[in-house]
Amino acid sequence: MTLRVGVIGTGMIGQDHIRRLTQVLSGVRVVGVTDIDRARATAAAPEGAEVFDSPQALIRSDSVQAVVICSWGPAHEEQLLECIAARKPVFCEKPLVTSEAAALRVMEAEEAHGHRLVQVGFMRRFDADYRRLKAVIDGGSLGAPLLYHSVHRNASVPEGLYTSDMPLNDTLVHDADISRWLLDDEITGVEVRVPRRSTRGKDLRDPVVVLLHTASGALVDVEISVNIGYGYDIRGEVSCEGGVASLPNRPATVVSDRHGIRQAIPADWRERFIDAYDQEFREWIVAAGQGTATGPSTWDGYAATLVADAALRAVESGRLEPVRMRAKPALYGEPIAVAA
Ligand SMILES: NC(=O)c1ccc[n+]([C@@H]2O[C@H](COP(=O)([O-])OP(=O)(O)OC[C@H]3O[C@@H](n4cnc5c(N)ncnc54)[C@H](O)[C@@H]3O)[C@@H](O)[C@H]2O)c1
Repeated sequence: MTLRVGVIGTGMIGQDHIRRLTQVLSGVRVVGVTDIDRARATAAAPEGAEVFDSPQALIRSDSVQAVVICSWGPAHEEQLLECIAARKPVFCEKPLVTSEAAALRVMEAEEAHGHRLVQVGFMRRFDADYRRLKAVIDGGSLGAPLLYHSVHRNASVPEGLYTSDMPLNDTLVHDADISRWLLDDEITGVEVRVPRRSTRGKDLRDPVVVLLHTASGALVDVEISVNIGYGYDIRGEVSCEGGVASLPNRPATVVSDRHGIRQAIPADWRERFIDAYDQEFREWIVAAGQGTATGPSTWDGYAATLVADAALRAVESGRLEPVRMRAKPALYGEPIAVAA
């Protein structure tokens, strides 16, 4: 059976997801697109797809079975609530939403529906290297994880569009989510330190160092640099009681010439996580075809939103800011048990 999908938001990642849904993956067809910029939607529409006037029209259309949201974060809440009201499975790019109150509204709507409909675009969970890293930690041979070092470096970000708050409320969500998932732990507090600014970052607060405190007592340090220049560089290393497990450097052709011996670095997230995005959609297509969702949930999107909010408070206060989560609804599985 072929899953008939509608895509909301046909910008950079919307176009990339349309490409994978039409050219890479099977069992799926993009039957509709929409964007507030209609010309952009028209240009991105695959052959035979309808260009809808609004997200609401797309979501309510009988021709659309499941929805992919790739609009800007502040638009996600309304579109998610509309999908849940229409009882349609929905893949939503990160961030789930941009405030705690909005996350709670989406969670309550999904709970009232009775089973999961939402998958959030935390693609790192589908990356083979992160999955192998998690398997080692979960296997227990290294003992309990104590520290996780996460490095998130972008070559550059669009000048003018990307603000000083965005490393904390847009970029950090990936590191927050992967930390919770790898360590099987909830984040309970956030500190932020701001070193000397990079002159490459123009007026941006860049880089930043974030310290995430977890319920088990493990600590996560995150470097976010968004104008590092040389490429898109994602690293991770977990220090456990009995050893260390690290993400490998990605295999790349080794070039030797008069400058030395070197390997290329991915230019951006599309290149580094191309296989992870494909895999997250493979798994989404299977679940959405059954009218449900698996993978990163509304609960995970809510957790990341709380961490982003706490990080923004922490950069102002200079203190450890608490993250207080509501009780976990049964819909999202068991609460994480923390050893005494
Ligand atoms: N998972 C990842 O690694 C990753 C990478 C990049 C972007 N993202 C996320 O994807 C989303 C889109 O990012 P992007 O880089 O493609 O941005 P973009 O600006 O290139 O594209 C967003 C598109 O959405 C449209 N849009 C915005 N609000 C809308 C609305 N209310 N209704 C219909 N269309 C609307 C815009 O006109 C634009 O064409 C963001 O939430 C971003 O954080 C995730």
